[in-house]
Amino acid sequence: MSGPRVLCIAGSPRRGCNSDRMLAALVEGVAGAGGEPVRLVVSQSGVQPCNGCNSCVRTGVCIVNDGMHAVYDALDSADAIAVATPVYFASVPASLKALYDRCQPYWGRRRHDAAAVAPKRPGCLLLTAGGGDPFGTQCAVTSTRSALAVAGFSIDEVIEAVGVDEPGDIERFPNHLEQAGQAGEGLVARASAGR
Ligand SMILES: Cc1cc2nc3c(=O)[nH]c(=O)nc-3n(C[C@H](O)[C@H](O)[C@H](O)COP(=O)(O)O)c2cc1C
Repeated sequence: MSGPRVLCIAGSPRRGCNSDRMLAALVEGVAGAGGEPVRLVVSQSGVQPCNGCNSCVRTGVCIVNDGMHAVYDALDSADAIAVATPVYFASVPASLKALYDRCQPYWGRRRHDAAAVAPKRPGCLLLTAGGGDPFGTQCAVTSTRSALAVAGFSIDEVIEAVGVDEPGDIERFPNHLEQAGQAGEGLVARASAGR
């Protein structure tokens, strides 16, 4: 049997920078622990914003025909999840927030069929932030927890690298990169225990 599939979501529209680097460390941890990392780059996934039509609340299915349907498949087949994202105005970048909003069909399904509520799978959030905003990072954490709870994940570990802005700044925080690697190993361990 292959190791647990860990869906690894890159939330920054800026490629190869701080949050991507943290995610790479987590991916290494996942692979090293025998898990199967599955990468998803939100800015390249063709996910449009929710239009609020509410048809999914009745049917459990989204009528917007775009890249989100591949994301639903990835969410459904994952044994664990990791999201790496910068903080944008205390929350997450718009493209990632669009993906979160498109989790509304899971809400619809849960309302109609309690049996559709799967046991929660483990999750981890990796945040990078410049740190200059007095409104902090809590909104990014809460928004991630809320959307992914509906999709069937529990974000039980959050690693925040605050004080990183320019590309490469994250390299000044080797402890956070090490923590991210360990978080990847931990996801594999928790997902294996839940199988
Ligand atoms: C549009 C925008 C909004 C931002 N808002 C915040 C913020 O509210 N709080 C914060 O600490 N940093 C903020 N930042 C800084 C980013 O979180 C920081 O540069 C982060 O390390 C970028 O991650 P990346 O290198 O993976 O793209 C913002 C950056 C941008 C471009």
